[in-house]
Amino acid sequence: MIRAAYLVAFYCAICLLACRPEPNSSNTSWPVYKGGPAANHYSSLAQIDTSNVSQLQVAWTYHTGDADTVNSSQIQCNPIVVDGTVRHFPQLKLFALDAKTGKELWAFNPLDSLPGQKRIFFILNNSRGVAYWANADKSDARIFYTAGSNLYSINAKTGKPVEAFGLNGLLDLHEGLDHPDVADLFITATTPGIVYKDLIIMGSRVDEGPKAAPGHIRAFDVRTGKRRWVFHTIPHPGEPGHETWEDSTAYRFIGGANAWSGFSLDEKRGIVFAATGSASYDWYGGKRLGNGLYGNCVLALEAATGKLRWHYQTIHHDVWDRDLSSPPALVSFKKDGKMVDACAVTTKTGYVYVFDRETGKPIFPIEERPVPTASGLVGEKLSPTQPQPTKPVPFVRQLMTEQDINPLLSPESFAAVKQRWSGYLHDHPFNPPSLQGTIELPGLDGGGEWGGPTFDPTTGILYVNANEMAWVIRSVELEKEKEGPKTLGQAGEHFYKTNCMTCHGPDRMGSGNNPTLVGIEKKYSPASFDTLLQSGRRMMPAFRHLGKAERKAIAAFVMDLPEAKKQSYTGPKPAPDPREVPYAIAGYDKFLSKEGLPAISPPWGTLNALNLGTGEWIWKKTLGNDPAFPNATEPTGTENYGGSVVTAGGLLFIAATKDGMFRAFNKRTGAMLWETKLPNPAFATPAVYEMGGKQYIVVACGGGKLGTKSGDTYVAFALP
Ligand code: HEC
Repeated sequence: MIRAAYLVAFYCAICLLACRPEPNSSNTSWPVYKGGPAANHYSSLAQIDTSNVSQLQVAWTYHTGDADTVNSSQIQCNPIVVDGTVRHFPQLKLFALDAKTGKELWAFNPLDSLPGQKRIFFILNNSRGVAYWANADKSDARIFYTAGSNLYSINAKTGKPVEAFGLNGLLDLHEGLDHPDVADLFITATTPGIVYKDLIIMGSRVDEGPKAAPGHIRAFDVRTGKRRWVFHTIPHPGEPGHETWEDSTAYRFIGGANAWSGFSLDEKRGIVFAATGSASYDWYGGKRLGNGLYGNCVLALEAATGKLRWHYQTIHHDVWDRDLSSPPALVSFKKDGKMVDACAVTTKTGYVYVFDRETGKPIFPIEERPVPTASGLVGEKLSPTQPQPTKPVPFVRQLMTEQDINPLLSPESFAAVKQRWSGYLHDHPFNPPSLQGTIELPGLDGGGEWGGPTFDPTTGILYVNANEMAWVIRSVELEKEKEGPKTLGQAGEHFYKTNCMTCHGPDRMGSGNNPTLVGIEKKYSPASFDTLLQSGRRMMPAFRHLGKAERKAIAAFVMDLPEAKKQSYTGPKPAPDPREVPYAIAGYDKFLSKEGLPAISPPWGTLNALNLGTGEWIWKKTLGNDPAFPNATEPTGTENYGGSVVTAGGLLFIAATKDGMFRAFNKRTGAMLWETKLPNPAFATPAVYEMGGKQYIVVACGGGKLGTKSGDTYVAFALP
């Protein structure tokens, strides 16, 4: 029964793919993460349009059945549509559905493929999607995706691992990094790789702490898993860019500079585009002096060889975690009467960088502007300038001035916020992290986040949804480890500060999206706590580089175990480590009032439309509403995650907001034409496809962020 349904889906989808003309102007399916190799979230389907969008109704729903409401699971997946649809459960299982009915065709659980010991250390990462490859006659069709540190190759028809790939269908991303010392470092991939011919090109998510794996980009043979090329994002001696690190040995111990947000691909030119994050440790650069190529760079690499075509560094010597958060969208538009093939990157800072695709020459001039250079942190050396495009103007506020304090707060709260505001560094967007606290705006999650931009090739308009939340970064001096005998409690406190405080805060109260650890002993046994430290979970990295004695000490301290804390610490004296940093941050903290409300005035979320030909914004709308503010006279906007999609039917669809709505806007005017409440907020980018003559739009409603409840539903909409 199921088999028959599957074949139907399979053949229909082949037809769709075969009929697919030029990927950039026409896209009727959703074969690649972000809609196609151009990463532009565009669909040329027009059945649903501005005149009938209000009649949209639920076509099917699918429950993954494994939402984890206790630990706030999320679904960030942008599903692909080929041969049925393929998606993720929150717990990283992979499944294929009939795209017409939402019926499950097969499911694959990565845990089943792992032996006992490895299962325990399986990293539950967030996953934004999968990649698809098939040979010419489609007799061999595979799905590639990462679960834990393994890249899987799964037979697209059966849902079984492809034995010929790597080791029985999986490949450990720790391997092939050209680094002797990464076996115990954290690595996964939250975003799918991209397929070029018979290569799967992969980025990675690595630790942001001092002990991080390098973010080298690699291409593997889709059939065998053999590494075909590597691009060292932290160059080795003799490679261009190595000279941008003052310490010529830095490549041996500095990590990060990873392309965590995916790729776009110009198939015709054979160029793959990536955007990298900062080098680690994120918040202090004293151990990695210099501009540090290729951190925070737009990279254009030859897709066949990995050879560098051009690069552009958007932040020099980043100490603000201003990772480039989405791959460049490939865009073509008319400027001064001429068509330009370019790529556009939206950033956490709110700037849009646009480059000629072949040469990397900026389409709008970029200026190196002087920025503050005085850091109160010993050993830090900041870049005297940072590059800023002269056009377009940023799509979010750059400073939180006194006028930007949230007027919706009670008078007492307002006064308290104002007092704190005046004590923080607040007068320049490039104020460095400081001991008194530095306001970071746009915040750590943008500006533009991993949802990335949307581009309409028929109009030349680029869309970006944005967050406007002020965060406060406060640096803390780390005490040198005390000489002489220590108790487990003392050692544990030291290890906590150097490894965990950045996320869980100085008082273990949590920060930003990171949970509190106070009272954690009620939820975990020492054994399950130890397993979690070694496996990590979603945004919590694994700590396998810590030895058993160090983990035991951390457990004694964090779990507040009175007996254990008194025992003496007998672990090895750590060898001097060049990565050891003298400062950590006190947490990923949003600037909130005592009641937990934003210190900055609304809007906290916006949707923006840019004419790329002129570099002018053509409209800007508030996105979402937070009902916690009955005194607000206008919608407040909410922080949002996941991108939009644009269609030939004149519509821009986006969910992404905390209020759990799914909305359609007129893409030309920004007028809202339709909205509906989803079962849970959808912090994910929708996918648009056609099946049996009908246009569908599907979105994953996983909740679990911004304090919302986790969900497990994929909802597809269509006209009646
Ligand atoms: C990069 C940020 C980050 C760092 C560093 C980090 N954590 Fe976490 N931690 C998280 C996040 C995010 C979660 C929630 C994970 C999830 O989605 O289930 C978490 C969850 C946890 C939990 C489970 C909480 C619960 O309620 O179930 C424990 C325990 C924990 N962390 C301990 C630690 C310890 C100990 C360290 C240091 C060795 C550490 N973490 C370092 C981000 C971090």
